[in-house]
Amino acid sequence: MVNNRIDQVKSFFAQPERYLKHNFNIRIRAEVVAGFVGDTVFESILDIGCGNGAISLPLLREHNRLTLLDVSSNMLSIARSRIPAELLDDVETINEDFMQAELRLQSYDLILCLGVLAHVDSPADVIARIASLLKPDGSVIVQNSDAQHPVGCLFNLYLTLRNALLRNPYPLNRLSGTKLTEMFSNHGLELSAIYRYNLPLPGMARVFTNDSLYERTRRVYGTHTHNDRSWLGSECIYHFRKPDTIGG
Ligand SMILES: C[S@@+](CC[C@H](N)C(=O)[O-])C[C@H]1O[C@@H](n2cnc3c(N)ncnc32)[C@H](O)[C@@H]1O
Repeated sequence: MVNNRIDQVKSFFAQPERYLKHNFNIRIRAEVVAGFVGDTVFESILDIGCGNGAISLPLLREHNRLTLLDVSSNMLSIARSRIPAELLDDVETINEDFMQAELRLQSYDLILCLGVLAHVDSPADVIARIASLLKPDGSVIVQNSDAQHPVGCLFNLYLTLRNALLRNPYPLNRLSGTKLTEMFSNHGLELSAIYRYNLPLPGMARVFTNDSLYERTRRVYGTHTHNDRSWLGSECIYHFRKPDTIGG
């Protein structure tokens, strides 16, 4: 019997395939993150809840460092297996709860946190810790399903019913986009970009292939530079920046 959130998360992601089969969404996340990053080479990157590493590993260059952190040992070992051999020395892996892991304050230029806030004990505590780990002038890219958006509300209703029917181990946190932006802003981070889209309707993943779901989503919502119908999107990827008040 598992009884706390971390054990429940570990138990859920102990079978990574349950999540990784929806790889069209991981592909969209990775592309949007790469788009937000552009040509900037961030010296030190932290990927919280890195999953299979597909989002942060493409940001590795010859002269930067990446920390892959995930509480699920099975997920983390998949991420580890994908590190290019010649870059193994530049990647650190941490198999711990983000809130408990020993990490140095103000030591990361870029922090990624996608698909994680819904699963943690306290999104507010996670956001406060992210802000404390970020260097001045650093960037955070974070994903959230906007609970206040009309489409987000419908998804929430569907998830509540599904959770009840499937007896899922824990309810997902629901945070509005406004609240999320306010929490980052309270820690001095400014919103610099956002990409909005929607996940396919329930059941579509059973009918369409991942490639087809990817194409359909991109056709409707476009790319991060041309985010068509963004008003319709409840699934959000945000880029926040911490202004460098010391450097001016
Ligand atoms: C939905 S997956 C997202 C994976 C990846 N970031 C992506 O977007 O494809 C959530 C991941 O976060 C991890 N996770 C959840 N809570 C965590 C915590 N408190 N500390 C570290 N990892 C956590 C899970 O083990 C899982 O691998």
